[in-house]
Amino acid sequence: MKIKVGVIFGGETVEHEVSIISAIQAMNKMDEEKYEIVPIYITKDREWYTGDMLKDIDSYQDLNLIKKYSDNVVLYYKNGSYVLQKKTGLMKRIVKEIDIAFPIVHGTNVEDGGLQGYLQSIGIPFVGPDVYAAVAGQDKTIMKDIWNSIGLPMTKYVWFYDVDYRKDTDEVMKKVKKLKFPVIIKPATTGSSVGISICDDEEGLKEGIDTAVQYDSKILVEEVVANLKEVNIAVLGNHEHQKVSEIEEVLSTNKFLTYADKYIGDGKGGKLKGFKKPVKSATSKGMASANRKLPADLDKGLREEIEDIAVKAFKALGTSGNSRIDFLIDEKAKKVYINEINSIPGSLAYYLWDAKGINFSSVLDDMINIGIKDYKKRISKVHSFETNILQGFAARGGVKGMKGTKGKLR
Ligand SMILES: Nc1ncnc2c1ncn2[C@@H]1O[C@H](COP(=O)(O)OP(=O)(O)O)[C@@H](O)[C@H]1O
Ligand SMILES: [Mg+2]
Repeated sequence: MKIKVGVIFGGETVEHEVSIISAIQAMNKMDEEKYEIVPIYITKDREWYTGDMLKDIDSYQDLNLIKKYSDNVVLYYKNGSYVLQKKTGLMKRIVKEIDIAFPIVHGTNVEDGGLQGYLQSIGIPFVGPDVYAAVAGQDKTIMKDIWNSIGLPMTKYVWFYDVDYRKDTDEVMKKVKKLKFPVIIKPATTGSSVGISICDDEEGLKEGIDTAVQYDSKILVEEVVANLKEVNIAVLGNHEHQKVSEIEEVLSTNKFLTYADKYIGDGKGGKLKGFKKPVKSATSKGMASANRKLPADLDKGLREEIEDIAVKAFKALGTSGNSRIDFLIDEKAKKVYINEINSIPGSLAYYLWDAKGINFSSVLDDMINIGIKDYKKRISKVHSFETNILQGFAARGGVKGMKGTKGKLR
């Protein structure tokens, strides 16, 4: 019997459109002999839809057609299975059952642990990072603090909350000015270069911070790496086993890699009805269309250093699935800095595996198998006790102030 895989994508995130592309690329490559693919699309207004039309990029030309011709559903646990049930209609029909969820989502509210939290709380097996790893993989301050604690090489950084910046600007500025200029200012949890700016001197700090606070209440400021060469590597596995991909060098004509560098590359984007950002035509390649050198030009020493740091970084966050880990290299100094992890990278970084002779279908197979193993391990741990302390508690008189009860919580 085929494994029913619910591929979940979209969501309320600035990377919504990129996620549609990544998910469609993956659905096209999943082995249909082994898997029944069930697309589950989350709109920007957080409605969940399923239906075969969602496997086709052209369907996203008009959101109204999706709303009309696919099923608006909820995913939950019912009578021993995970079901997609219609939200509307007299019968509230069960449209599909799924065995395992496969989130292919990018950015806030979904990749950041939002979606994983839901999946973990209803108990369904799922592919990719669990809730803890997903949170750490999205919040740059958390990932950096964890990596710092195990001594991975990173640029010097500080972070602060917007409220503290507003309340005590001088104090925060004092902290920031200890860094060497130029610095780069980033909202802690956005992706795709959104809200990021580079400041050459103290004058520009205010403007950069004001931009970043529009996106996040946690702001990260870090030293800029000179003579920059950016390289990325993917790591596949979980905390038990890891495998590394080929390394790419990403190329930008701008001061830093922009949204356009990452997703538009040489391809043409066009704005489509119902979507704020370009969802490209059926030829779209998403992250796979960035300008790159693959494999990157690196000597053996640097290559091995990057592979080694990537595996340590992956394990330290306790992540799972197929992540892309990004590095900044000062080419003159030959110094490597780890920059960030993308727990669920654009295009699932298939091109990095391809370059190593590992095809996308087998990466997807591995990811699903790892997801099943993670699930088995998760359920093998003790998560609850049979005893109900509230029963004994009620017998002793309950909580003061609660209707119909007496006594106190200790
Ligand atoms: N410390 C740095 N020094 C130089 N360039 C940087 C630094 N940090 C980020 N960048 C540039 O900014 C881009 C976006 O930053 P990144 O931290 O990767 O955020 P995002 O999650 O938005 O991709 C990077 O791809 C790189 O081009
Ligand atoms: Mg990045």
